[in-house]
Amino acid sequence: MVKTVRPIGIFDSGIGGLSVAAAIRELLPDEPLLYVGDSAHVPYGGHDDVFIRTRAETLADFLVDRDSKAIVIACNTATAAAAARLRERFEIPVVGMEPAVKPAAAATRSGIVGVLATAGTLASARFAGLLDRFGDGVEVLTEPCPDLVDLVERGVLTGEEAQHRVSAHVEPLVGSGADTLILGCTHFPFLRRLIERAAGPDIRVIDTGTAVARQLRRQLADDELAAGKCGGLQLFTSGDPEDFSLVARRLWKDAPDAASLD
Ligand code: DGL
Repeated sequence: MVKTVRPIGIFDSGIGGLSVAAAIRELLPDEPLLYVGDSAHVPYGGHDDVFIRTRAETLADFLVDRDSKAIVIACNTATAAAAARLRERFEIPVVGMEPAVKPAAAATRSGIVGVLATAGTLASARFAGLLDRFGDGVEVLTEPCPDLVDLVERGVLTGEEAQHRVSAHVEPLVGSGADTLILGCTHFPFLRRLIERAAGPDIRVIDTGTAVARQLRRQLADDELAAGKCGGLQLFTSGDPEDFSLVARRLWKDAPDAASLD
């Protein structure tokens, strides 16, 4: 059988989706990855759905034009606004992501869960639906954190400023009794150590990158889209490629130079 070398196309509002790309790389090391960060328009968190949907379609078109065999929306905010639209438009698998309310509700012992996410995700119908389905009997505290997205976009992952900003979001949640925190934005796994430090040792922190990678693996197997053999990562950005490459190398050892989207 001839193995396909079509890449997996991944996009996010910026650099945060590399946390999802890393989980995919871990589970599917032979798959070539094509990543687009929409850095000229980050953050998505404050934009309306129509804007995000339009951007998501542009990015998905770019990935499909480059023969992607699947699209991963490595962004909770864009999934909420645009996953349904992309699934309507494209025949290839479209894998999205959402805050891990179900596993968090199962894991909490205090009955209180905190969600760190964008304002867009927290206001979305998709998130309301998650609370309806899985939030029964659990108190879910929501915390929009646009400044944490900004930290990661600037590559500020350690130090006093980063810890201070992270603590300002995490401490009130833990102080209100949350024993489980959901990383509901793909930028936040890059701040995981600071989040855990602010939360303290007894708090569980849940990320969805690996679950998304598993879902992608299932989908590729179902559709018989065999793994490529070359691995590799290509980066594109709608922003400044040099700035993007600089930060990407802080998040992904040996990240290649990013190219411009246009
Ligand atoms: N990384 C994105 C998410 O998972 C959003 C960050 C932003 O652009 O506001 O929601």
